[in-house]
Amino acid sequence: MEHSIEAVAGNGLTFNPHIAALPPYNAGMNVALARALSGRDDIARLASNENPDGCSPAVMEALASSSFEPWRYADPACSALRAALGVRLAVAPERIVVGNGSEEMIAAVSRAMLVPGATVVTVVPSFGLHEIEPLAAGATVVKIPMTAGLGFDLVALEQAIRAGPRIVFLSSPWNPVGPALDRPSLERLVAAVRPGTLLVLDEAYFEFADAGGPDGIEVLRGCQTAHVVLRTFSKAYGLAGLRVGYAVCSDLELARVIAAAKTPFNVNAAAQLAAIAALGDDGWMKDSVARIRAERGRVAAALGELGVRPASSQTNFLFFDWGDDSTALSAALLGEGIVVKAWREPGYERYVRATIGTPAENDRLIMALGKLIAR
Ligand SMILES: Cc1ncc(COP(=O)(O)O)c(C=O)c1O
Repeated sequence: MEHSIEAVAGNGLTFNPHIAALPPYNAGMNVALARALSGRDDIARLASNENPDGCSPAVMEALASSSFEPWRYADPACSALRAALGVRLAVAPERIVVGNGSEEMIAAVSRAMLVPGATVVTVVPSFGLHEIEPLAAGATVVKIPMTAGLGFDLVALEQAIRAGPRIVFLSSPWNPVGPALDRPSLERLVAAVRPGTLLVLDEAYFEFADAGGPDGIEVLRGCQTAHVVLRTFSKAYGLAGLRVGYAVCSDLELARVIAAAKTPFNVNAAAQLAAIAALGDDGWMKDSVARIRAERGRVAAALGELGVRPASSQTNFLFFDWGDDSTALSAALLGEGIVVKAWREPGYERYVRATIGTPAENDRLIMALGKLIAR
């Protein structure tokens, strides 16, 4: 671990031991580093689940308009964005808290709910922050492995949820694996939540899910279970660089405490304007999602022909077992200018997650994997 307790003692500082001992977040490699390491300019960045189509032109117009005043503090309450979201989702804006990315809401929920020694349940493999933020608060994280068929282990999850953790973090559609809970499965897990437990349903990839699948906000509407549904503008809306996501909370008191756990001016002016503009151009988002879903089917079929079988995906990425340590694969792909994410959680080091990029980027990935397999 980089920040050992000895290093802390050496310079006389005493760190919060929960923070000092945190595992690093496995972020996708940035383009500058990928260029430096690969010696290539044409980097296909397929590690961070960004939108290869960019974002709506309405976003760029909003940022070029006179409404954008970088010299002013932005509205700390994000009132206009929360009002727009309230109308879109048919939710009282007072139940919505906007974050500097939905990752900030994962941190705020953890900060609001957890004390050292509290228990959190999530899955493995998992989105790193569902573990890191609870660990930062000194919580113990119980991780339920996926099934051999690369799905949710509902029986084990139900049991772990019934045991009464403070928080359950579930992403559906599931990062990094790809499947989404169907409505009966989601309802079954919701029914297992007891008073005293907060269910956090992270729907970062909601827009990519199959039509007819459950909408967490709808399923949980009016239900007694304390819950937070997380959504983001980073993926389908293509605003990853601006950082804006939000939490829809089951009640006003929960929303108040989560808002108290964020920094006051957490969402900058550009992000607020951009998110409102993006929300107003759903047509762009839907077209982009349709293209990405079609590409996802094409790439999954091509990988299948190579003998690589990705997990079923309702997201903008594919997750597959490479059969060997995936670090070697990601290094070989980097040599071709392709950045993917080698999974590092114990037990899953043979797995790789590859974002669906442009058709040309996807072709490069398929070709490069084909070459490696033929060797
Ligand atoms: C499941 C999940 N939740 C939350 C996030 C955080 O997204 P952001 O902070 O960009 O909204 C991500 C990003 O990859 C994610 O995959």
